[in-house]
Amino acid sequence: MIEDKVVRHIEAAGSQRSFGTSMTAKAPYHGDGAGQHLTAESGELEELLGLFVAHHAAKLRLCDDLEAIADSLPERAGPRECLAAARTVNGILRGAHEFEEAQLWPVLLRLRCDDRELCDSLERLRYEHWEDESYAEEVAAVLTDWGMCVGNRNAEATGYLLRGFFEGLRRHVAFEREHLVPILRSALGSDR
Ligand SMILES: [Fe+2]
Repeated sequence: MIEDKVVRHIEAAGSQRSFGTSMTAKAPYHGDGAGQHLTAESGELEELLGLFVAHHAAKLRLCDDLEAIADSLPERAGPRECLAAARTVNGILRGAHEFEEAQLWPVLLRLRCDDRELCDSLERLRYEHWEDESYAEEVAAVLTDWGMCVGNRNAEATGYLLRGFFEGLRRHVAFEREHLVPILRSALGSDR
């Protein structure tokens, strides 16, 4: 179910993005103690956590695919693998970023409304999203050239480009797993 939602996020990402999404767009949550509302809150957090974990998994699979391509350049790089990665890289990133900025971050800020460090981290992550999306467009263009056997293909430069991209993406995911996922788990009273 959650995997289906992630696929829809990725497919719907297209050229749309949420540059203008304010991290404080939603009103702060003022829990009134009613059990009904607490149940709804818990359900929302469970779903957000599941989607966040699933988006991370999709990004890490992409990193593994790009690393395999980088390791196989130039002779063993398969055109089909290059084209498949070129087709999916932008959608995977935009889907994840749209989810994080529009759905996840407002809830994190609601949970930690006085956490200045969290605000600073999210602002830094927003810039990383922009950088990664720009980087992803370059990766997609280069991989399309390799897949179509056109253009001025340089194995060393492509390997350097791919490694810079997926190593940065892995660091981004690692940071979010270490610092953002625990906020949701703590709110759920879970150490999973
Ligand atoms: Fe992110």
